[in-house]
Amino acid sequence: MGSQWGRDRQYRAAVREGYRSRAAYKLIEVQTHAGIIREDDNVVDLGAAPGSWLQVLRTMTGGKVIGVDLNPIAPIDGVETIVGDLNDPHVQEQVKERLGVVNVVVSDASPKLSGQRSYDQARAIELDEQALAFACATLKPGGNFLAKSFQGEDFPEFLVKVRQAFRSGRTYQAKASRRGSREIYVIGKNFIGCETDAD
Ligand SMILES: C[S@@+](CC[C@H](N)C(=O)[O-])C[C@H]1O[C@@H](n2cnc3c(N)ncnc32)[C@H](O)[C@@H]1O
Repeated sequence: MGSQWGRDRQYRAAVREGYRSRAAYKLIEVQTHAGIIREDDNVVDLGAAPGSWLQVLRTMTGGKVIGVDLNPIAPIDGVETIVGDLNDPHVQEQVKERLGVVNVVVSDASPKLSGQRSYDQARAIELDEQALAFACATLKPGGNFLAKSFQGEDFPEFLVKVRQAFRSGRTYQAKASRRGSREIYVIGKNFIGCETDAD
């Protein structure tokens, strides 16, 4: 699916199936591979606009689904949304209040690209670290985590942090990603806890 032809085909499929973005297929692929979302899990989706992951999540769990993004998300039946920065502690509090128990944190958040590769990679990892901090502050023990990331200089350090916070930390390269893309998914399963600055 990595070729231009594959991407066009995926885009047409997304339109036909009513998904807001072809990113939907990446989440479906990760779930098929890793089974991060369980029946009745409450899930928060960070960087959720325009909402294709939310559409897919709604079909994957009978639990609550909530999306957070800097940009508004058009309504989806059975999904709550928050307009805000995933790094804002008030947003984290709102998510905890609305979900009660947070079983899964997924993040497809991406920075606006500058075209300057090392800068964009560093910004992407910074967002990943923020998504992990969000998970550390909200996840129930035993919960799962998924973050889109990009391979590069700072990536190994991020993966180490995920491996410390979860019993299992793995990576997965989606077939639905562009061929030659550095995009990679980091999957943390079975949350243990995170070191805080005070530790
Ligand atoms: C690739 S899009 C997500 C696509 C989405 N998963 C879908 O399937 O429709 C990345 C999103 O991350 C959001 N984003 C970037 N930084 C953010 C932040 N600090 N807080 C919340 N959202 C953020 C952007 O606004 C953008 O909508």
